[in-house]
Amino acid sequence: MTSLNDILEKAREKHELSKDEIEFLLQTDGEKLFKTADEIRKEYVGDEVHLRGLVEFSNICKSTCKYCGLRAPNKKIERYRLTPDEIINFANEGVMLGYKTLVLQSGEDMYYERDLLCSIISEIKKNDIALTLSIGERSEEDYEAFRTAGADRYLLRIETTDRNLYKKLHPNMDFENRLACLKNIKSLGYETGTGCLVGLPGQTMSSLADDILFFKSLNADMVGIGPFIPHPDTPLKGMFNPDNFERALKVMAVTRLVLPDINIPATTAMETVNPNGRIIALKSGANVVMPNILTSEYKKKYEIYPNKICINEHSGKCRNCIEAKINSIGRFISTTKGFRKPV
Ligand code: 5AD
Ligand code: FES
Repeated sequence: MTSLNDILEKAREKHELSKDEIEFLLQTDGEKLFKTADEIRKEYVGDEVHLRGLVEFSNICKSTCKYCGLRAPNKKIERYRLTPDEIINFANEGVMLGYKTLVLQSGEDMYYERDLLCSIISEIKKNDIALTLSIGERSEEDYEAFRTAGADRYLLRIETTDRNLYKKLHPNMDFENRLACLKNIKSLGYETGTGCLVGLPGQTMSSLADDILFFKSLNADMVGIGPFIPHPDTPLKGMFNPDNFERALKVMAVTRLVLPDINIPATTAMETVNPNGRIIALKSGANVVMPNILTSEYKKKYEIYPNKICINEHSGKCRNCIEAKINSIGRFISTTKGFRKPV
């Protein structure tokens, strides 16, 4: 019988784990796992923490993901769509606050067609920053045009690799298309981010282990993992499981073991379910934080899940607050753009 210590030692040496070993780690007390993930994080990506300034520019979405408050059938949410000038102004504010990476995120809102987005991307890229897009599934031509316009990175969580669960949670969507998008993004030379939700109704340890193996096989450059938080105006309302935080933390830590040099955020969802969630995550394998740079008016409306943190905080305040928290655990804010280090 292999022991916890043997598995962690193997991970340290080889950064390869079998599905059984991953499941074992997910089901065992997390203390040693978190410590090992923290040590591997320190060895491969150091003590610097990369901040990414998030501009959530539209909450209009054509998709129907059953867990998400922005889903098209949710008629209760007040929708907004920023103009190109507003987007660029928020981006400039992010640059002024010192962010070296900006992330443009939205629902799947086709109002922003290819040329319009390209002009926004090239305007923002006049600044000396890295630019990440997180706007969902688009055509190959779109991905190529955005890349040519200057986008450096793309985030598209696979959400779950369990095909049956995927089908149940995403009516009218196609798992194969999502996979094809990710492969396309990778082949265009974007730094590619993916990730999953943890604690979805019907999700098993076996399927979470498959998610981690998927991140490894894709050789993802970034992996964002968050606990599922039920939204009251979605079909999954009320399905909160208090174990989701710890479980998400474990999925994140095991991801650090198998992909030691990638960027892993301490996600906002983690802080939403645990008041110290981001710091705990930063001490369990994470090396990135993604504060929002919008005003309260828009932050409130970008309600993927309820009780999001920092809704009433000014973007400058969040910048200082998170810096103080990071410094308090002996880490520091990076002054670089924070690309994945070449292996
Ligand atoms: N709880 C937690 N995370 C969620 N997301 C969507 N809905 C929820 C929810 N209810 C995550 C998805 C998506 C990201 C932008 O937000 O993983 O990719
Ligand atoms: Fe927003 Fe602390 S990060 S107030």
